[in-house]
Amino acid sequence: MSSMDPMQTKTIAVVGLGYIGLPTAALLASRGVTVQGVDVAAHVVETISRGQVHIVEPDLDGLVQKVVSSGNLAASTGMQPADVFIIAVPTPLGDDLKPDTAYVEAAARDVAAVLEPGNLVILESTVPVGTTERIAGQLRGHRPDLRFPGSDTETPDVHIAYCPERVLPGRVLTELLHNDRCIGGMTPECAARACEVYRLFLEAECFETTARTAEMVKLTENAYRDVNIAFANELSMICDTLDIDVWKMIELANRHPRVDILQPGPGVGGHCIAIDPWFIVHSAPDQAKLIRAAREINEAKPGFVLEKVSRAIHGNANASIACLGLAFKPNVDDLRNSPALGIVEALGREHGANIIAVEPYIDAAPDCLTQHGVRFADAQSAIAQSEIVLLLVDHRQFHAIERGDLAAKTVIDTRGLWRVDAG
Ligand SMILES: NC(=O)c1ccc[n+]([C@@H]2O[C@H](COP(=O)([O-])OP(=O)(O)OC[C@H]3O[C@@H](n4cnc5c(N)ncnc54)[C@H](O)[C@@H]3O)[C@@H](O)[C@H]2O)c1
Repeated sequence: MSSMDPMQTKTIAVVGLGYIGLPTAALLASRGVTVQGVDVAAHVVETISRGQVHIVEPDLDGLVQKVVSSGNLAASTGMQPADVFIIAVPTPLGDDLKPDTAYVEAAARDVAAVLEPGNLVILESTVPVGTTERIAGQLRGHRPDLRFPGSDTETPDVHIAYCPERVLPGRVLTELLHNDRCIGGMTPECAARACEVYRLFLEAECFETTARTAEMVKLTENAYRDVNIAFANELSMICDTLDIDVWKMIELANRHPRVDILQPGPGVGGHCIAIDPWFIVHSAPDQAKLIRAAREINEAKPGFVLEKVSRAIHGNANASIACLGLAFKPNVDDLRNSPALGIVEALGREHGANIIAVEPYIDAAPDCLTQHGVRFADAQSAIAQSEIVLLLVDHRQFHAIERGDLAAKTVIDTRGLWRVDAG
């Protein structure tokens, strides 16, 4: 698939060596490119320099070990000149639900210091629309000696593009190779040059567009998921009021050839779907009504679950509650922004040691639970000790729980795992 000669792109600097940057750097290095990995965190750089990894991702350890020992990937805390710069630093949500682009700005400042004519700068971080243009302006401010796309009418010295990432944690290396890419250039030439970089490893298609469109594409993908989950979550609350089994109802509605409703749950977590829609709301607050409402519905769902628990506790203040699952989705150990963890933390704050947390993918309860006295156990013993069983995550281990073990319990099943007619 490669059209660009890796020898021509002599050096690529990947700035930010986390879940996105490190796999990207390692894949490029595995294609014969000399890759400089840059990260502000010394422990990240030290770990990678030893040929090891600081994040859990299938097959990444072997690949990093190989490319570091071959000399194609070297990590450093300092920025060096390169031909291409790929920026993959965090873009969290600020306290006031405003996107925080400070890490991107800091990375751009470091890149600006070493830029040379002929360079290409690619932004991969998830950002609000207009950020790539703003970063171009920032680079222009730092380097008045160079011409940048945007306001300079002549051919720019430095090309700039936005290329979002749409990989699924746990499948990052596979999806980096096989997912189509949407590449937004500040100019068509910028997009074409960025495509050449991705074609060094991509086994899928590159679609070229403008930087603003590509920024919105990324945000739209996650808002689409959020809105659809919110629809399912809203249905679950409506059905609860109307005494209808929401899972059965959705299963039947989905028999319609053009209906495909997702499954409800205790809320939405993780570091993308629960955050990125706010970037759209912040940019167009008067227009983004549905996207904002979806966020609010999904954020309200943990409170709805807590209400159900408090009704179940009613009259038995000493009831023990087995809480099954803390992760933000099934079959992973990732607790970031997890609604399940938030629910168990709220229960722990009120009921302390009556709460027993179960999470097969971690070894011990996190501090936010232990500080309230929440206990940690395996599913079987937690259920045996409890009057109430709250299922929060449908990890594969929980599918094996015997229905008989739940017979005398009050069960609150937020994932529809144990509904009467479930397979
Ligand atoms: N993780 C995902 O699944 C995923 C998927 C799609 C998009 N994204 C987006 O990609 C971007 C990166 O996410 P991630 O999950 O890789 O983040 P991460 O936190 O795993 O890694 C980011 C790395 O950047 C480093 N860093 C911070 N500031 C820096 C600077 N100024 N210079 C150099 N390094 C710096 C940090 O030390 C960290 O190691 C974010 O915008 C995120 O929203 C992530």
